[in-house]
Amino acid sequence: MTRGFGGEVATCYARHRRGYPPEVLDALTAALTLDADDTVIDLGCGNGQLTLPLAARVAAVVGMDPEPDMLTIARTTAVRGGLTNVTWLLGADHDLATVGRLLGPGTVGALTIAVAIHFMDRTATFTAARSMLRPGGGVAVITNGAPLWLQDSEWSRALRQCLEELLGHPVTGSCQTDEAGRRLNREALVAAGYRYAEAGVAYDAALTVEDMVGGVFSAMSADRLPTAERRAAFTAEVRDALGGRNAVTERVHVWLQYGARDS
Ligand SMILES: C[S@@+](CC[C@H](N)C(=O)[O-])C[C@H]1O[C@@H](n2cnc3c(N)ncnc32)[C@H](O)[C@@H]1O
Repeated sequence: MTRGFGGEVATCYARHRRGYPPEVLDALTAALTLDADDTVIDLGCGNGQLTLPLAARVAAVVGMDPEPDMLTIARTTAVRGGLTNVTWLLGADHDLATVGRLLGPGTVGALTIAVAIHFMDRTATFTAARSMLRPGGGVAVITNGAPLWLQDSEWSRALRQCLEELLGHPVTGSCQTDEAGRRLNREALVAAGYRYAEAGVAYDAALTVEDMVGGVFSAMSADRLPTAERRAAFTAEVRDALGGRNAVTERVHVWLQYGARDS
């Protein structure tokens, strides 16, 4: 079990990370023919950024994650929103086969994995998913844009420079959101016997300095998070580096990679 997304990191994630616009949900439900009869498992669901809007489109969603603090936030948000067709399971990728045995063969419309595949054993996960999926359903691996420090924009370069000064080393981690990471997903889906397809959704959205900095801190493990004072100072440094601006425009590129189970 990971503790990387626990404590303040979970709060930071829920407060500052971008969710998914309706276009992403439209693309996902169309590609895997999801409808009001379907059950979906959202593995690595975190605080429910994808799980919760998905619940509005299908019969039931099970959000599964090894981090209890993320699940607590997800559950609270669902209860506050009056959602009654979503439930939460403390578990990781290696628990998927057991969940599949519990649900039975052909019972699941989709297994979604959003911004979490880099923590998982792809081959074992995609193989375990096969028998639980109904014909025409499938796996969807979703990437919610490049990390904030790695984008091709002036504000992202300024952020990276501030971050490298804070951490004292180059910051190059892509969290496998790049072409090399997508290739790993594509190859593993094909090797596990799925019919592969992909789609992209791109849009412009405002990004405040608070969300930019909070987004960066939500990518750190809980035991490496700077103190609240240092985080406040870092926010001021980033704002200075951006010429005093409080917000920028981010071009968000969401990738959806599907592995469909043939009928
Ligand atoms: C970057 S967050 C993504 C959360 C959410 N899916 C989203 O799109 O915002 C990654 C999540 O993967 C979870 N995770 C880490 N290792 C995992 C594993 N081995 N199996 C399943 N989930 C895992 C973390 O606890 C965290 O909640």
